[in-house]
Amino acid sequence: MIQMFHVTKSYPGDPPVLTDVNLTVDKGEFVFLTGPSGAGKTTLLRLVFCDEKPTRGQILVGGRNVARIRAASVPYLRRNIGVVFQDFKLLPHRTVLDNVAFTLDVLGTPRSESRERVLRMLKLVGLQHKAESLPLKLSGGEQQRVVIARALVNDPTILLADEPTGNLDPGLTVEILDLLCEVNVRGTTVVVATHDATLLERYQKRVIRLERGRVVSDTAQSEAVRRTG
Ligand SMILES: Nc1ncnc2c1ncn2[C@@H]1O[C@H](COP(=O)(O)OP(=O)(O)OP(=O)(O)O)[C@@H](O)[C@H]1O
Ligand SMILES: [Mg+2]
Repeated sequence: MIQMFHVTKSYPGDPPVLTDVNLTVDKGEFVFLTGPSGAGKTTLLRLVFCDEKPTRGQILVGGRNVARIRAASVPYLRRNIGVVFQDFKLLPHRTVLDNVAFTLDVLGTPRSESRERVLRMLKLVGLQHKAESLPLKLSGGEQQRVVIARALVNDPTILLADEPTGNLDPGLTVEILDLLCEVNVRGTTVVVATHDATLLERYQKRVIRLERGRVVSDTAQSEAVRRTG
């Protein structure tokens, strides 16, 4: 679903942010991307989302080479990718329902279909009773669930979440992670960037660790080595 071959990303004048990254995330996997602050987690997700181009290397997303994608094709690629980024950016003067419907509105989805899909998503995240509320009237965890509903309403094959629980207390953190696991069980490939070690411990999923822009460990690979070795 996501493949990176010898991916390097550097900005002029600075040492590379990512260096020779190789990884494969299969369809339906749930992966944590971890590592210290500045390790390159957000940058890696932005490359997958085509927000940035790699300096070197190849990136395949759903079989398409996004390192070489034309700007005009980016929106099509993004229809298959839901994102939950650090700063959640809900539209403050629109209701929860309108916020979640936003992507569908942009795509010109008919109102009746859009409404039905939005309500289905709000039900999934447990917020159908808040459809008419404004975001600022919701708790932090509720707002984050709206963001997740918005990321999923388009039925993406991949969900990228960057520190989705960054500002939340431990109870809400578990709530959000459980929700992401459920989304994954329903078939979406999920990649979660986090430096929260307690989450890695608690959920026992595949963990890819970055340090100073390099993949320093990947539990899937150590698992494979154990089995073949
Ligand atoms: N647009 C940019 N221009 C120059 N340097 C950048 C740019 N974006 C990111 N960087 C640098 O790349 C490095 C990795 O940043 P990145 O945001 O990917 O780290 P991270 O692992 O997500 O960290 P955190 O855990 O703090 O979110 C940092 O040193 C950062 O300063
Ligand atoms: Mg980051």
